[in-house]
Amino acid sequence: MQNNYKKILITGASTGIGRQLALDYAKGGAALWLLARSESKLYDLAEEVRNAGGEAQILVCDATLEPVLMGALQFAQAASGGFDLVIVNAGWGGKMKYPGAKNIQVLNQVIDLNFKAATQTLEFFARHMVEARHGHLVGISSVAGFRGLPGGAAYSATKAGLITYLESLRFSLQPFGVKVTDIRPGFVRTPMTDQNKVPMPFLMEVDRASSKIIRAIARGRKRFTFPWQMAIFVHLMKALPDVLYDWAATKSYGDMAVSGRKGKSEENSAG
Ligand SMILES: NC(=O)c1ccc[n+]([C@@H]2O[C@H](COP(=O)([O-])OP(=O)(O)OC[C@H]3O[C@@H](n4cnc5c(N)ncnc54)[C@H](OP(=O)(O)O)[C@@H]3O)[C@@H](O)[C@H]2O)c1
Repeated sequence: MQNNYKKILITGASTGIGRQLALDYAKGGAALWLLARSESKLYDLAEEVRNAGGEAQILVCDATLEPVLMGALQFAQAASGGFDLVIVNAGWGGKMKYPGAKNIQVLNQVIDLNFKAATQTLEFFARHMVEARHGHLVGISSVAGFRGLPGGAAYSATKAGLITYLESLRFSLQPFGVKVTDIRPGFVRTPMTDQNKVPMPFLMEVDRASSKIIRAIARGRKRFTFPWQMAIFVHLMKALPDVLYDWAATKSYGDMAVSGRKGKSEENSAG
């Protein structure tokens, strides 16, 4: 697998897409900094990374606690001497229902992780990469950010925000030779989706998703939506007149928009 990145930091590395990216980059001998809350999972992953040929450091950190996050990033920046690649991947779907006593709590957690922590991490490394005139920032958004999905108000809104943020950030960093890539996955089989009770068209296994993401990053893609069938679908959905989108979304997922996504949790607890 092609990889010119030697020092890589990944948030949300303990499971799913982040974990698989770490293992795949390890095969190329990269030095990986792995951030998440679950210490034991990070510890086991670090072992696997070393066995695969990489180096590993773990950062046990709740990214939604800004001072804790900033402390962890400062430590990693100083100890590593700066990163070639930072992948901002930590995210959570959340479950909101109507009426819902926990909706504000869920909303805050989704915003704090998917948007605030993500953009704070991007800004932290943007500063250092601009000063170094070197580096590549990657955000993992989602096809859920293309339109307001039924049953995903907080998730869709934060991913739409992240998509827009990454696009704007790219214009600010390109004069300094710092790249910005927005990765927009469709359904990938991970702990985030494996309890889903809704149809997941074009579901992709995580190892395949990881190799596609790594290829898109290596090619310096500005945006990458995958799989291609989902990319066509969401671009058509985006182009659909509002009245048609409203009709189709209500007909297909109107009930779920009220009762919340089946199989989703109202708690974002570390494993
Ligand atoms: N799977 C899909 O179908 C899909 C589709 C589109 C986009 N995505 C996006 O891809 C990214 C990765 O998702 P995934 O499917 O791999 O899900 P996942 O397996 O649930 O991974 C989420 C990661 O985020 C970490 N995390 C959660 N809360 C955190 C917090 N407060 N502080 C620090 N880390 C935290 C988790 O680790 P700890 O619990 O140990 O903290 C875990 O490592 C997310 O941004 C997601 O929105 C996924």
